[in-house]
This record gives sequence, C-alpha cells and structure tokens, in this order.
Amino acid sequence: MSIKQHQHAHWSSRLGFILAATGSAVGLGNIWKFPYMVGESGGAAFVLVYLLCIALIGLPILVTEWLIGRRGQNNPANAMADLAKAAGRPRAWMLVGISGILGAFLILSFYSVIGGWSLYYTLNSVTGAFSGQDADGIGALFNAMLGNPGLLLAGHSVFMLLVIGIVARGVTKGIESAARLLMPALGVLLVVLVGYGMSTGHFGEAVSYLFNPDWSKLSGETVLAALGHAFFTLSLGMGIMMAYGSYLGEEVNLLKTARTVVIMDTVIALGAGLAIFPLVFANDLDLASGPGLIFVTLPLAFGQMGGGIVVGLMFFLLLTFAALTSAISLLEPVVEFVEERTPLSRVASTLVSGVGAWALGIAALLSFNLWSDPVLFGLNVFDLLDKLTSKFMLPLTGLGAIVFTSWYLDKESVRRELGMDVYDFSLWSLITRFIAPIGVAVVFFSSL
Ligand code: PHE
Ligand code: NA
Repeated sequence: MSIKQHQHAHWSSRLGFILAATGSAVGLGNIWKFPYMVGESGGAAFVLVYLLCIALIGLPILVTEWLIGRRGQNNPANAMADLAKAAGRPRAWMLVGISGILGAFLILSFYSVIGGWSLYYTLNSVTGAFSGQDADGIGALFNAMLGNPGLLLAGHSVFMLLVIGIVARGVTKGIESAARLLMPALGVLLVVLVGYGMSTGHFGEAVSYLFNPDWSKLSGETVLAALGHAFFTLSLGMGIMMAYGSYLGEEVNLLKTARTVVIMDTVIALGAGLAIFPLVFANDLDLASGPGLIFVTLPLAFGQMGGGIVVGLMFFLLLTFAALTSAISLLEPVVEFVEERTPLSRVASTLVSGVGAWALGIAALLSFNLWSDPVLFGLNVFDLLDKLTSKFMLPLTGLGAIVFTSWYLDKESVRRELGMDVYDFSLWSLITRFIAPIGVAVVFFSSL
C-alpha cells in the first residue's frame, strides 16, 4: 500500500512512549481550561463527572486509537485502510484516518499562533514587562500584541521552527527525546509553582474552590462540557494517538498505559488549578474566562507580587513546554502520512508539512488584526479553523475509530490483545459499542 518500503520506527521504551503521549495530552486544556471549568461547575462534583466521562469515553477511545495504530504499523490513513480490508469492510474507512490527519494539520496552524503568544510572554516575564502594571497596562500589552501582525508572525514562526526541528529528527531522536527533557521539567515547574501557591496564604481557598462538591452547579450543560473535555484533553480524534500507537511494539499493555497517561493528565490539570488559583485569590483578581485568565489576569498577579519575575517566567515556561509537546504531536501524523505516501525523506516530509501549517497559520494570526472580517459563516479564519476542527472533525473521527474497532474487528483477537478475561471484555464491549459512541454522538449533536 505505501509507495516505498521502509523501516517503521519504534519508541525506545514504554516510558518514552508514556512521556510522549502525556506530552501530547497535557496542553492548554489542562493548564487553562480544566481548572477554570472545575471552579465554575461545582468543584469535586464536576471532577467526579469528569472522571466518569474519562473512564467511559476518553480512555476507551484512547485505547482504540492506539490499537488501530499498532495493528497498522502505518500512518492513520493506511492503517485504517489495511484494517478495513482485512476485516472485509469498505476501503472508505480510511477517511477516518484522513480526517484525523487533516484535523491535526488545521489545528497545528492556529495552535502554533498561541504557542507564539506563550513564547512572547515568556520573554515579557524576563524583561519585567509586567512589573508594576495595573489592569489597564496589562490589558494594553495583550491588545498591542494581538494588533501587531509582525510580532505575532515572529512568535508563530519561532514556535513552528522549534516544532519542525524536533519532528524532523524522527520519533525516538526527536519526539521522544524532547518529551524526556520537557515533561520532567514541566513536572518540576508545576511542583514549584504549587509550592509557591501554598506560601501565599490563599491555598486553602483554591483547594475548596477546586474540590468542594457543589452538586447544585451541575447541569446538563456541565456534563456535556465534561464529556467534550474528556475527548479534547486526551488529544483524541486527530490521528495523533493512532500515529503514536503505530510506533508501539506488541509488548506494551495498552490498558495499563492508557490508565497511566490519563492519571498524569488529570493530576497535572488539578495541579495547574492549585498553582493558578492561589495567585488569583491572593491578588484579589477576577477569575475571568477566555484567554484572559492566562494572558491578562496572571501577568497582573506576577507584576504585583514579590518574586513575580521568577514565578512568571516559570509559569510561561511551563505553558510553552506544554504547548510544544502538544504541537509536535499534531505535526507527527501529517509527517508520517507524507513520509509513507510519497518518496520524500523524513526531513523533507517534515518541512513540507510544517511549512504548510505555518503558511495557514499566517491567515489565522491576521484574524486578530488586518483580516478580522468574517470569511465564512460569520467567522474569521482563526475561529473557523477552531470550530471546524473541534466541533466537526474531531468528534466524527473519534466516533469512526471506536465504531470501527468495536463492531468490525475480530472480537476474540481484540480481547486477547487487551489481555482481558471474558467478563471484563463484555463490559468493555458494552462501553465501546454503545456507551462511548452514544456519548460522543450526544456531544456532537448538542454542539451544533
Ligand atoms: N490535549 C491538549 C490539551 O488538553 C489539547 C490538544 C489538542 C493538544 C490537540 C494537541 C492536539 O490541552
Ligand atoms: Na490534556
């Protein structure tokens, strides 16, 4: 099927794979969105609902994507086509892989723009740009960045260059090495920041904000939000986990590994809340929603508190590392596809894919200034890319992957591959054939 024969790469160890997959999962969803959602939606009550969604939808689809990738030992499109053929199903199932790859490409284009913001704010913390600023000054800094195409382009370009540089070096030398370096660094930064939060005298407030169960705040809407987030936070529906799974060997236990990645993702999200909220409370700031919390509220806190330069630098480094490991995972399925379907080398495939996403990203960053007019459906390019991927492509891709696997793959071989006994597998079948697909379908239709 693939045009050229090649050695398919493999992770050098299970730990390397876990770090790379966790690196993909941990991103803005953990550091900005999850803490905010928990606080808004009922604390521990929301966390419980979220964990249920992770168990019933997130984890099964994660395992499913890895399983497809590992069986295929090929990029998501070819893997789906090969598995469909072996199962006697139409070749059109490869559309599931293609839409994942395309989704990753589109998301990368605007994700890199935000990565650029993160780089710029890392620089701002070092130069002391937040020091002594009031809310107006910090707001003006943010708006001046958005209104400056050259600055946005510089951040976007440097960020994309880093992503291309890492991915071009390959799966083990590039992605895995970066994850081995960045993920422990991210962990240390987070622990120090939580420690700092404890010293503010407002840690208790943050803990009760995050964990006090308030069942009255739970609504159908928050349950839907938890479902959607379970999907997004694990980087599902983008071909990412299929691509990462294609570099796995037989010896890795998918269920156990998925559990580890899910736990790390959740712990880091809760840790981010414990790092951020004490600063917000200690400085009497608003828990504003949107990008505001990270790029306006927190810099205000960094500018007001003692040691704010160091704490601010650590925070934005954390954010940059999280964005970087997610962005490399977005580029990988695209590169794997190009490399396996064309005569191009790894390096050339990375350049073609990365420069393509970079070019599209320019249209996205102009949405904040020169080209803010709607282009389609009343949305500018940035919002259009965001909505198209998160509302349509991701859920449909994830749905396709889990329906195909649970209904069309030989059940006995899947049961053995997952190392389950007959009883556990009947529960697994119930979840993967009915509960998870219905859950995704509900989120999909309710978001339209
Ligand atoms: N999983 C990431 C998060 O929680 C989001 C992400 C989506 C990352 C898609 C990469 C690709 O922030
Ligand atoms: Na996440």
